[in-house]
Amino acid sequence: MTEPSNWITAPWKASKQWLRKATASRSVPTMVPIRELSERHRARIQAHLLKLDPSDRYLRFGYAANDEQVARYADHLDFERDDIFGIFNRRLELIAMAHLAYTPLQDYSNCAEFGVSVLKSARGLGLGTRLFARAVIHSRNKRVEMMFIHALSENTAMLKIARSAGAKVQRDGTESEAYLKLPAAGIDTKVAEMVENQFAEVDYHFKKQAKQFWDILADVQEIRQGVRDGRHQSAE
Ligand SMILES: CC(C)(COP(=O)(O)OP(=O)(O)OC[C@H]1O[C@@H](n2cnc3c(N)ncnc32)[C@H](O)[C@@H]1OP(=O)(O)O)[C@@H](O)C(=O)NCCC(=O)NCCS
Repeated sequence: MTEPSNWITAPWKASKQWLRKATASRSVPTMVPIRELSERHRARIQAHLLKLDPSDRYLRFGYAANDEQVARYADHLDFERDDIFGIFNRRLELIAMAHLAYTPLQDYSNCAEFGVSVLKSARGLGLGTRLFARAVIHSRNKRVEMMFIHALSENTAMLKIARSAGAKVQRDGTESEAYLKLPAAGIDTKVAEMVENQFAEVDYHFKKQAKQFWDILADVQEIRQGVRDGRHQSAE
């Protein structure tokens, strides 16, 4: 693919250094479990996106998507072609997700577009930055050479994430395009992704077990309460 002359790109900043700096001042654990999502997560993805308020939907999709449009977006996600990453809380609620979209056009097979959303309750913790870093590693391993981020110019947080990773931002009125040129994958990116995947799987299964346990406990307590109430009624 030939680069249009007006594209100003910069290489992805040596990842560890950038990520350390970007999350140092916040209470972010060293590793955040980021899971690759699949077909079976579609309903949770839809639920996550529907929790975004109108202004967030405007920032995320570039227009004020209504519930129906959001649902359609979730319904049409192509898990075979694209890559989707998510961060779950203890209740297995999807609190943050990123979408790496690829084009079916052969000439642009080395390009990906990044989109992200973090629920308001989880903002400012570095999750957006983490998802971006994860997407970069994944893209490099998939031989992607250029990552694009389309954002409204008012979207300070998103543009900050892109800029601090080394992306060049071109502003065009209310809209901005960021381009990040990625270096080739190395053994470090392969190992990093493998370790992150493993960590996220273990974390998810642990959270799943814990949730099942609490759900069972809640059911038992409900049954006990029902029995108690029944006893009280029959004693009256
Ligand atoms: C953009 C978004 C994903 C950022 O998520 P986040 O987890 O809060 O981001 P981080 O905590 O990693 O913060 C990234 C940077 O932005 C800054 N930032 C966060 N919110 C900000 C705000 N409202 N105003 C200005 N800067 C902000 C942080 O301080 C941080 O900068 P630093 O590294 O210099 O400290 C989140 O705000 C969001 O979901 N917005 C709605 C959807 C959207 O805009 N998507 C992007 C377009 S695809």
